[in-house]
Amino acid sequence: MLVVGIDVGSLTVEAVVVRDGEMVAYSILPTGADSRQSAEKALGLALERAGCGRDEVSCAVATGYGRINVPFADLQVTEITCHGRGAFHLNPDTRTVIDIGGQDSKVIRLDDTGAVVDFAMNDKCAAGTGRFLEVMARALEVDFGELSTPAGGAETPASISSLCTVFAESEVVSLISQGIPRDRIARGLLESVAERTVGMVSRVGLQPKVTMTGGVAKITGVVRALSVRLGVPVRVPDEPQIVGALGAALVAWSRFLRRSQ
Ligand SMILES: Nc1ncnc2c1ncn2[C@@H]1O[C@H](COP(=O)(O)OP(=O)(O)OP(=O)(O)O)[C@@H](O)[C@H]1O
Ligand SMILES: [Mg+2]
Repeated sequence: MLVVGIDVGSLTVEAVVVRDGEMVAYSILPTGADSRQSAEKALGLALERAGCGRDEVSCAVATGYGRINVPFADLQVTEITCHGRGAFHLNPDTRTVIDIGGQDSKVIRLDDTGAVVDFAMNDKCAAGTGRFLEVMARALEVDFGELSTPAGGAETPASISSLCTVFAESEVVSLISQGIPRDRIARGLLESVAERTVGMVSRVGLQPKVTMTGGVAKITGVVRALSVRLGVPVRVPDEPQIVGALGAALVAWSRFLRRSQ
């Protein structure tokens, strides 16, 4: 029996196809200006990869910032529930989930059954998110890939004190004009994302083990900085960007099971 989960984020849309409780295919596409169309495309692509047709889908659950704009969804569920559910499915010993996407960041505490017991969220400003790093890569005049990969190697990170993206951008420009090497500035930016995240973790209380989801989990420098600051390993699933959509699909699967009882 086939169900789907779809996560319409501010930057990317993911669709996950689950058959009999296990993931069989997924897709990741940019959200772009028309999130409805992107959701349709992501679903079509994931189903094509699963070798299935639309008519085989028994239940579809949408999550993410744009979840209300998914016409084919039977249900909308919050990202907190879905990231928690997806991360717990992949690693059942997960007690803390850190999700950092394009425009917001969240820390979710789970109990030993995978239920959400607490969470903290920053959806008020771009600081500490993927978008922040994208803006800073532009200010540094480096490719985003360059910012996210070799920067982890710089010995001493430059100190970035501004909490606001706009001010941090001016700070970066000023550091460049002072002749501070770009890799030190890049490392400082990754540290600043980690520092903001640790602040949120302390609001809900750190409980190992920690799993990180969302696109920023692909930035090894951020993951490393977080592990050091938290004093525990931070695990990243093979494809951290699809964890919300996987959780949504698992919610759909549970709903299907309940209905067929
Ligand atoms: N291959 C990659 N390597 C490094 N970083 C990446 C990669 N792909 C995406 N990112 C980072 O992930 C961010 C997007 O993450 P994600 O797709 O989880 O966001 P989203 O779910 O659309 O946003 P939100 O949940 O905030 O609405 C980008 O801003 C970028 O910083
Ligand atoms: Mg997201």
